[in-house]
Amino acid sequence: MRIVMLGGTGQLGAILTRHSRRKGAQVTVFGREAFSSPEQLAGGLEQSDVCINLAGRNVNCRYNEANRRAIYNSRVETTRLLNHVISSLKHPPRVWLNASTATIYRHSLDRAMDESGELGGNEPGAPECWNFSIEVAKAWEEATHPTRGFR
Ligand SMILES: NC(=O)c1ccc[n+]([C@@H]2O[C@H](COP(=O)([O-])OP(=O)(O)OC[C@H]3O[C@@H](n4cnc5c(N)ncnc54)[C@H](OP(=O)(O)O)[C@@H]3O)[C@@H](O)[C@H]2O)c1
Repeated sequence: MRIVMLGGTGQLGAILTRHSRRKGAQVTVFGREAFSSPEQLAGGLEQSDVCINLAGRNVNCRYNEANRRAIYNSRVETTRLLNHVISSLKHPPRVWLNASTATIYRHSLDRAMDESGELGGNEPGAPECWNFSIEVAKAWEEATHPTRGFR
C-alpha cells in the first residue's frame, strides 16, 4: 500500500509513518513544500492508495494576527488545494484522511464530545480566541467537502 503523508514531518506524522512502515506500507513523507504548487502536489499523489493530510502550523504560539493567519491558511488553504488536486487526478487515492481538531466542539464539562458532539461557538463567557479556533476548525472541515467533479 502506498501512503502519501502530507504534513508528515511533524510529531503525528513521525508516529504514523513509523507505525505504517512497520505494517509494510510504503510511505512518502512531505512537509510544507508539497503545497508550493498544484502540479507538485498532484505528482506526489497520483497513483497513491491513501492520502493522509496533517499539515498545519503548530498552535503552540501566541494568537497574534500573523500567527492566526498562519494557523488558518496552513490548514484551510492547504486542504482546499488538496481537495482541488485530488479531484483532478486520473488515479486519485482511494482514501483521504484529513486532520481536524476536537476544538470544533463546545467546551463541555457535562458530557463527552464524540462524532455526535455539539459544535462550539459564541458560548457565553468563552474567550474570543476559542471562537477563532472553532471557526478555523469548521472551515478546515468544510475544505474537505466534495468539489464539483470529485470522484
Ligand atoms: N499533536 C496533537 O496532539 C494534535 C491534536 C489535534 C489535532 N492535531 C492536528 O494534527 C496535525 C499535525 O499535528 P502535529 O502535532 O504533528 O504538528 P507539527 O508537529 O507541528 O507538524 C506540523 C506539520 O505541518 C506542516 N506545516 C507547518 N506549517 C505549514 C504551512 N504553513 N503550510 C503547510 N504545511 C505546514 C509541517 O511541515 P514543515 O516540516 O515543512 O514545517 C509539519 O509537517 C496538525 O494539523 C494539528 O492541528 C494535532
